[in-house]
Amino acid sequence: MGEGNTPLYHLQRCAQAVGVDDLYAKHQGMNPTASFKDTGMTFAASSAHQKGFEWVACASTGNTSASMAAYAARGRMHSLVLIPEGKISWGKLSQSLDYGALTCQLRTDFDGCVRILNELVRQKPVYLLNSVNPYRIEGQKTAAIELLEQLGWEAPDHIIVPGGNLGNSSAIGKALVEMYELKLISRLPKLSIIQAERANPFYRCVREFDGSKLEPMTADTIATAIRIGNPASWKKALRVLQVTGGQVEQVSEVEIAAAKAEIGADGIGCEPASAVTLAGLKKLRASGFVKPRETVVLILTGHLLKDPDFTIRFHRGDLFAGTTCQEPAEKTKSLQRAPIVLDADLPAVIAALETAEKGHS
Ligand code: F0G
Repeated sequence: MGEGNTPLYHLQRCAQAVGVDDLYAKHQGMNPTASFKDTGMTFAASSAHQKGFEWVACASTGNTSASMAAYAARGRMHSLVLIPEGKISWGKLSQSLDYGALTCQLRTDFDGCVRILNELVRQKPVYLLNSVNPYRIEGQKTAAIELLEQLGWEAPDHIIVPGGNLGNSSAIGKALVEMYELKLISRLPKLSIIQAERANPFYRCVREFDGSKLEPMTADTIATAIRIGNPASWKKALRVLQVTGGQVEQVSEVEIAAAKAEIGADGIGCEPASAVTLAGLKKLRASGFVKPRETVVLILTGHLLKDPDFTIRFHRGDLFAGTTCQEPAEKTKSLQRAPIVLDADLPAVIAALETAEKGHS
């Protein structure tokens, strides 16, 4: 469907705000189903087809399921989607419905969906398309290879990715190491992984347990794509951190919302889970791990329109209303652009324009 070859954008305003010279976004949300899942899914779904499977299945926080449903439909296979009820965005749910998946909203979280799916594939001839599928990982390497090609095979200093189930960090890390071994690049970029504070099992694994164990948790974040408490690929991701010298960071709900609006204000936009990369970069910059003259690439994993509800609520100022984040969210007010309702009256529109002009000057 034309997956891959996604754009690499300069984020000029964000770069200034963070204090780095060269900040790029590799926008994987510009794939056919609007998330980074497509490059791995086209490969893994093709492999299901080649093996003669009629059914494919996944547990998902919404993007894997949207992608799988599309590629299954293209390959004339049936798809079964297990998603946590009430915890994925409407945009993603509507994709899986339109692409014809059998969509089951289970009364549990993502980790509960994974448990049921793992049982199911033992009993039914259904091909598993979660990111533990090796073809998914191989296909997702594409983002890193394209990135290096776009940068003229000049490795950036840092690549920053969101961490959920940790398949993507594993895939990008694998691609970097392979490119280095093949001498396509002369040094390894540091790959850093950012989690939401309320869905931070990998952060805790590294910071509290020195990588010795991963303690599963009940995850809960407004960045629903990464609401994952028991990531499948944590050992691979740990290896990537060690080999590339990257770090793991965690960011708060308010920091995620602010970073998302900042990326949006650069004219790019992404979904909340992708914005953890910018929020994490701010912390890595503040700690001195990222230096002003270094080149940084954020991997934006999903399109802004995946979760318009989040965006509208943020700009209207009610995203955090009545929650413990309400007070810290006060400082994001300057980023909010609530729509203004007016009569169909020219002077009223001119007055609004003039007020806005004053605000900008
Ligand atoms: N960003 C977005 C937009 C995602 O949808 C996901 C994961 C991630 C980041 C994290 O990537 O899991 O490879 O570490 N989404 C999966 C899904 C879990 O089901 O759509 P990861």
